[in-house]
Amino acid sequence: MENQNLSSYYRCPSNIALVKYWGKKNGAAQIPANPSISINLSDLYAETKVTIQHGNVSGLPAFSFLLDGQSKNSFHSKIETFFKRIWQEFEVVRNFHLHIESRNNFPHGTGIASSAAGFGALALCICDLEQQVTGKVFPNFEQEASKIARLGSGSACRSILPNLVEWGEHSEVSNSSNLHAIEILKPEKGNGFPLMDIVLIVDAGEKKVSSSEGHSLLDANPYSEVRYEVAVKNITNLIHAIRRDNMRSIISIVESEALQLHAMMMVSSPYYMLFRPNTVAIIEKVWEFREKSSLPVMFTLDAGANVHLLFPELYRTQIVNFIETELLPFCQNGLYFCSATGAAPVKLN
Ligand code: DP6
Repeated sequence: MENQNLSSYYRCPSNIALVKYWGKKNGAAQIPANPSISINLSDLYAETKVTIQHGNVSGLPAFSFLLDGQSKNSFHSKIETFFKRIWQEFEVVRNFHLHIESRNNFPHGTGIASSAAGFGALALCICDLEQQVTGKVFPNFEQEASKIARLGSGSACRSILPNLVEWGEHSEVSNSSNLHAIEILKPEKGNGFPLMDIVLIVDAGEKKVSSSEGHSLLDANPYSEVRYEVAVKNITNLIHAIRRDNMRSIISIVESEALQLHAMMMVSSPYYMLFRPNTVAIIEKVWEFREKSSLPVMFTLDAGANVHLLFPELYRTQIVNFIETELLPFCQNGLYFCSATGAAPVKLN
C-alpha cells in the first residue's frame, strides 16, 4: 500500500487558562458554556508521532498508543472517543491503523494536565496526515487542528495557537468561535509581558473528580448561569487590562477566576474540593509577598491542587528566590517547574 508508513510528528505545549472554561453547553460536541482565555506553557509540552501502519477495514477506529514507550490503557477510551467524533470527516482515521507514540517533557503523575498538550499534538498530526493521504490542503490548518483538538479535550483547542488565545463566542471578540480557538493578542513587551509561569507541585496524585465529570456537574449547579455571565465580563475586562498594561487589574481578574473555578466545585452536587491545605498556604504567602514587595506576581489554579505563579519575566530572579526560600516546604518533594509562555506548536522531523 503506497501510503503505508507515512508519518507526522508535532510538539504542542500545554496551556493555562486565565479565564476558565468550566461547563459545557453540549457534552458530545464540546461546546463551552462560556468563553475562555489562555496562554501556552512553552516549556511544558507533548511530542507526538503518528505513523500510518496499514489499512483498516474494521469500520471502527484502529490504533495503538504508547506514552513514553509504554502502552497506556487509561488513555485508550478518550482517544477512541476522539477518533469516533472525527470519523466522518477524516479519511485517515477511517481507512488506516494509526500508531501513536507520545511523550511529555514533564514527568507523569505530577498533576500537570497533559491532555491539552497531548490532544493538541495528536490533532496536528491527524490534520497533517489527512493532507498527506488525501492530497487536500486545509485552507486554515491551525483552525482545523484547533477544531478537532477540541473534540479530544476542550482546552486542547487553545494549545494550537500562540500568544494570548481565546476560545468561545464573545460579542466583543471578533472572529471568536465555539468551534475553535483564535489568537487574540500578542501582548506588547512592557511591564507585564512576557509572563513566566512556575507550577508548584502541591499534590502529584490522581484527581478525585476528573475535569469531564466536573464540567457535567455544572448542568445542575444553581450558580452556573451567574458564573458564565461573570466569565464573559472577565474576558472583556482582561483584554482591556492587558492592552493597557494594567497589572493590578490583570492580577485581580486572574486570581478571581482561579477561585471561582474552585468555588464552582464546592457548590456542585455532590460537592468536592480539589485544593489542599498547602494550596491555601501558598496563596496566602503570595498575597503577603506581593503586599511586601509590590512585585506583580499572581496565582492561578487548574482543576487540581497545584498552584501556577504568573509574573513578568523581568522579575524571575526575585520570584525564584521567593519560591526557594518560602514556598518549597509546601511543594510535594520540593518540586516545581518553570516555563516561558506564549509559544506555538512546532512540526518536528
Ligand atoms: C479547569 O479541557 O480538561 O483546566 O473538555 O472535558 O477534556 P474536557 O475538559 P478539559 O477542562 C479544562 C478545565 C480547566 C480550565 C481551562 O483550562 O479552561
